[in-house]
Amino acid sequence: MKHRCFSIVFILLVLAHVTVFDTIVLAKDVKLPSLKLKATPFSKAKPHSRSPCLPKILPPQDYLSTTYYLTSCPDLEGIIQNKINAWIQRDYTTAASIIRLHFHDCAVRGCDASILLNHAGSERRAEVSKTLRGFEVIDEIKAEVEKRCPKTVSCADILTAAARDAMVMVGGPFWEVPFGRKDGTISHGREAHMVPQGHENVTALIEFFQSRGLNILDLVILSGSHTIGRSTCNSIRPRLSYFKNTVMAEPPIDVKYLNFLKKQCRRDSNYANLDATTPTTFDSMYYTNLEKKRGLLLTDQLLHSDARTAPIVAALAPQPQLFISQFAVSMVKLGNVQLLTGKNQGEIRRNCNYVNP
Ligand SMILES: *[C@@H]1O[C@H](CO)[C@@H](O)[C@H](O)[C@H]1NC(C)=O
Repeated sequence: MKHRCFSIVFILLVLAHVTVFDTIVLAKDVKLPSLKLKATPFSKAKPHSRSPCLPKILPPQDYLSTTYYLTSCPDLEGIIQNKINAWIQRDYTTAASIIRLHFHDCAVRGCDASILLNHAGSERRAEVSKTLRGFEVIDEIKAEVEKRCPKTVSCADILTAAARDAMVMVGGPFWEVPFGRKDGTISHGREAHMVPQGHENVTALIEFFQSRGLNILDLVILSGSHTIGRSTCNSIRPRLSYFKNTVMAEPPIDVKYLNFLKKQCRRDSNYANLDATTPTTFDSMYYTNLEKKRGLLLTDQLLHSDARTAPIVAALAPQPQLFISQFAVSMVKLGNVQLLTGKNQGEIRRNCNYVNP
């Protein structure tokens, strides 16, 4: 037994080393050959490897499992899918809203549903969160789930699966969602600004992703979520006014596209599509647009001009299949950011808006 534990430790150490090394290589090696892009999918991790001799070495995501609710809430995924599909059929923009909500959740304190907490001073109440939508969708799903399997399913898990189903509804890939996250009990409005706002430089974006265990490839891939969705004109105002005197800007912007945006954005409260060509289809046009200097947000267009991210954009634009398969991998990684899993961590919230009394 001792020997077995020992070899498991060894394998885990090797895996840990490989993972860290992989991240560093991806971070520094700007000439990523396109075919080596695929990262290790989550499914290689063994959720059942809860050897008692290794309680502290397992990374948190190893406590997640795609069968976590198999007996305790067998209808969970059906409930979420039905609700999400109904909402998106009524209002297509719900899809992007849910995906964005999931990203904002995972970006601050990990995927712990902290963004859903609705009390004075919470992330959700912060100024930078005021364009977030979709809270009522999650509430509706949670209410149904509580009816069928009370006190069993975390809000963080619901939000993660809802984001997957929203992607599938707009033509994105399907992937298995590992479950078992706990809900956090802390949410601070002052932390909400940590989420990229669309005007950061690439170094800041890379650092933001790396501090959450995500690499440069994940950054470029997850930015590809902008193949659907919209942004308020307010957030691109500086980009538009920068060109008043036809000063050449960095990053550059296509002149026709700029003129279109100026018309579209007469008011700050108007919206512009993040994917200028195929805004309702999940495809790799987002990257093609960047090559044509038609990226909406500063943080979109910069991915094409920065030497660390440009080769990945160039690889993805002509290879929609590569984007689709890698997207599923990066989304699973996003869903594993800074998890609360252990017995004494977090809770299963009864109502996603409030910490349990
Ligand atoms: C990028 O942004 C960070 C954070 O705002 C800032 O500290 C840094 O100076 C910027 N880097 C460049 C090259 O502009």
